[in-house]
Amino acid sequence: MQLKGKHILVGVTGGIAAYKTPMLVREFVRRGAEVKVVMTPMARQFVTPLTLATVSKNPIVVDFFDPENGQWNSHVSLGTWTDAYVIAPATANTLAKMANGMADNLLLTTYLSARCVVFAAPAMDLDMMSHPATVKNIETLRERGVEIIEAAEGELASGLSGKGRMAEPQDIAYGVESYFARREGSMRGRRILVTAGPTYEKIDPVRFIGNYSSGKMGYAIAEELGSRGANVVLVSGPVKMSARSTNIEVVKVESAKQMLAAAQSAFGECDAAIMTAAVADFAPEEVADQKIKRHGDYTIKLVANPDIAAELGRMKTGRQVIAGFALETNDEMRNAHGKLEKKNMDFIVLNSLADKGAGFMTDTNKVTIIEKDGTTTPYPLKSKSDVAIDIVDTLERTMSSTK
Ligand code: CTP
Repeated sequence: MQLKGKHILVGVTGGIAAYKTPMLVREFVRRGAEVKVVMTPMARQFVTPLTLATVSKNPIVVDFFDPENGQWNSHVSLGTWTDAYVIAPATANTLAKMANGMADNLLLTTYLSARCVVFAAPAMDLDMMSHPATVKNIETLRERGVEIIEAAEGELASGLSGKGRMAEPQDIAYGVESYFARREGSMRGRRILVTAGPTYEKIDPVRFIGNYSSGKMGYAIAEELGSRGANVVLVSGPVKMSARSTNIEVVKVESAKQMLAAAQSAFGECDAAIMTAAVADFAPEEVADQKIKRHGDYTIKLVANPDIAAELGRMKTGRQVIAGFALETNDEMRNAHGKLEKKNMDFIVLNSLADKGAGFMTDTNKVTIIEKDGTTTPYPLKSKSDVAIDIVDTLERTMSSTK
C-alpha cells in the first residue's frame, strides 16, 4: 500500500491506449490511493466514463460544468485536491497544448492550475512521436518539471512497430510510487545549500560582466533535493528559472560578493553544499556611478573575486559535505582533481566542454563524478534532471559515510 492516503488525479486523453487507463486506475487503487479521473471530450470515444467511474469509485469529470444543472467543475479545487496528476495516455495534441499553455478543456485547465507533481505518459504513432514538434514539446514539459513516463517500443495500433506505446499501467504506477518514496524519504530533515547561475559584475549602471550559465543544472539539483524532502537554500545569480518545490528557499543575488555573503550566512546551518554557480572570476575594480560615455578606447581593470567554494571549504566542519563542479576544456581530470583538493571538497562533478551536449545553455549534461578517495564514475549523456539524481545519490552516500 505504498500510495496509501495519496490523492491521484488521472487525466485521460483521446488515444487508443486509453483502453489501458482503467487498469492504471486499478493499480493506483490497489496501492491504497484515492483516485479521481478527468477526461477530454475525445477520450470518451476510447473508454467509457462508466468504466472509469466504476474502477475509481468516483464520478468522472469531463466538462467545465454539468449541462443538466449548471454545476461548475472547478479545475482549481481538483488541482489543489491532488498529490499527483497523471496524464495517461498523453496524446501528441494534449502534450502540444500543455507545452503552449492552452486551456480549452478541463484536463488542461487543471494542468495549468495544478500545484502538484504532474506525470505524462505519451502514447502515439511512431512518426508523431519522433516529429520534431512532439520531441520539442516533450522536452519543454520535462524542463518545466513534468515527469515524462517514456513510451515503450513495440507494436502500435496503426500496425506499425516502433516507439509510441504507452508504458504499461504497472510501470506508470511504479513511477509514481517511487517518486513519492524518493520525496518523502531520504533527505527529510537535511538542510542543503546550492549555489546556481552566473554572477553579474557591474561595470556601470547599465553594463556588467557575466557569462552564459542558465542555472538549469543548479535548479535541477535543488528540485531533486527538495523532492527527497531536504530543505534547500538556493543562492541564485540572475537566471530566468524559478523553483517549483515548496522546500526550496531562493536567495537572489547578483555579484560574486553578494553570493559569497549569502552562502556564508546559510552554510553554518547546512549539512552540505553543492556549488554549481558559474561565478565570475573577476570583477571591475571600480564601478562607474554614471554610464561610461564613448570616447575612444576604454580599459577596465579587473580584480579577482572571492572563491566561494574555497571559502566554504575553509569553514567546513567534519560533519559537513561540499560538492562542486569543474568546467574544463583541457586536462580535465588533472584540473578537476586539483580543484577538489584546493577547495576542500568531498566530490567534484566534471563537465567537459569537449563533450557535445554538456555544459552551459543545454538541457542535457555529461558528467564524471570524482570523489575524494579517487573513485571516478563516468556517466552517459542525460537530461539535467537525471544528472541531478546521480549527483544527489552521490551526495547522500557521502553524507551517510560522513556522519
Ligand atoms: N567557484 C566558486 N567561486 C568562484 C569560482 C568557482 O564557488 N569564484 C566554484 C564553482 O561553483 C564550482 C567550482 O568552484 O563548483 C569550480 O569552478 P570553476 O569555474 O571550474 O573553477 P575556478 O576555481 O574558477 O578555476 P578556473 O576558472 O581557473 O578553471
